[in-house]
Amino acid sequence: MLLASFQPTKALESVRELTAKRITAFSTDCIPRITRAQSMDTLSAMSNIAGYKAVLLAANELAKYFPMLMTAAGTIFAAKVFVIGAGVAGLQAMATAKRLGATVTATDTRKTVGEQVQSLGGRFVAVESAEDAQTASGYAKELSQDFYRKQGELIAQQCAANDVVITTALIGGVKAPKLITAEMVGAMQPGSVIVDLAAEAGGNCELTRPGETVVENGVKIIGPLNLPSTCLRMAASCSPATWPRFILAFWKENAFNLDLGDEIIKGALITHAGEVVHAATKQRWKATGA
Ligand code: NAI
Repeated sequence: MLLASFQPTKALESVRELTAKRITAFSTDCIPRITRAQSMDTLSAMSNIAGYKAVLLAANELAKYFPMLMTAAGTIFAAKVFVIGAGVAGLQAMATAKRLGATVTATDTRKTVGEQVQSLGGRFVAVESAEDAQTASGYAKELSQDFYRKQGELIAQQCAANDVVITTALIGGVKAPKLITAEMVGAMQPGSVIVDLAAEAGGNCELTRPGETVVENGVKIIGPLNLPSTCLRMAASCSPATWPRFILAFWKENAFNLDLGDEIIKGALITHAGEVVHAATKQRWKATGA
C-alpha cells in the first residue's frame, strides 16, 4: 500500500507502474474537499501558497505601486487586480493583493463564492445566468457554451480595465478552461501583468507557456510551475500536520481498516487490485491512451 501526494492525473507513468504491481495507492491531493477532511487537505495548503506567491510575482513585475500613495508627483492610484477563480488560490491572491493596498475584483462560475470575495473586501462580478457550476464535491463543473460566450465578454472588459490579472480557474479540480484569448491580451494596457496559476494544467490564457514568462503587446504573461517549492518552509510544515490526520482516517474499531465505503478513503484511492479506480485519473488515462 502506498500513501503519497503524487498528482495522479499528471503522473500517469507512475499510475501505470502502480497498477502493474497491484499496489493500493492513495494520493492526498485527491482527498475530497468536505468538512471532515479539511484538516488533512494538502492541496489547499499548496494552493494557498500559490495564491500568495502569484501576487508577489505580479507586484515584482508591475511597474507601479500596489497601494494608493501620495507622492511629490501627485496621487498614485492603487493598482487594480482582477482574479479569475475564487477557489483556495484565488481567495488567497485576493487577500494578499488587498493587504498590499490594491483594488480587487473577482469572478467565478460558482455563485456561492460571491460572499467570500466580498468578505475579503473585493468586488464580485459574474455572468447573469441561471447556471451555477457548484457541485457537492466543492469543485466546479463545466457549463454551457452560451455561458462561456457571455463570460468571455465580461473577462475581456475586466482584463482591459485592470493592471494585474491572476487566473486560477479549474474545472473538476483538473481541467484548465481557456478564458483569456490572444485578442483580450491585445486589448490590455502595455505594462499589465497576467499570472496564470493554471499553467500546470495548460493555462487559462491562450498565450501562457508553462514555466515561462512571455511578453505580448507589452503584457507580461507568467506561467509559474510548482510555486509551493518557492515557499518551502510553509509547504514542508503542512506534511507533519496533515499526514497523521489522513492516516487516522483508516483507524476504525481499534484497527487499521481499509474501508472503501469511507468518503475520504474512497476519494483519495487511485489504484486498487491492478485497476485505476480514481475517476479523473481514469479519464486522463483513457484520453491519453495510456
Ligand atoms: P479550486 O478548485 O479551489 O479553484 C478553482 C476555481 O476556479 C473554483 O473556484 C472554480 O469554481 C473556478 N472556476 C472554474 N471555471 C471557472 C471559470 N470559467 N471562470 C471563473 N472561475 C472558474 O483550485 P485551487 O486549489 O484554488 O487551485 C487554483 C489553481 O492554482 C489551480 O489551477 C491549481 O492547479 C493552481 N495551483 C498552482 C500551483 C503552481 O505552482 N502554479 C500550485 C498550487 C495550485
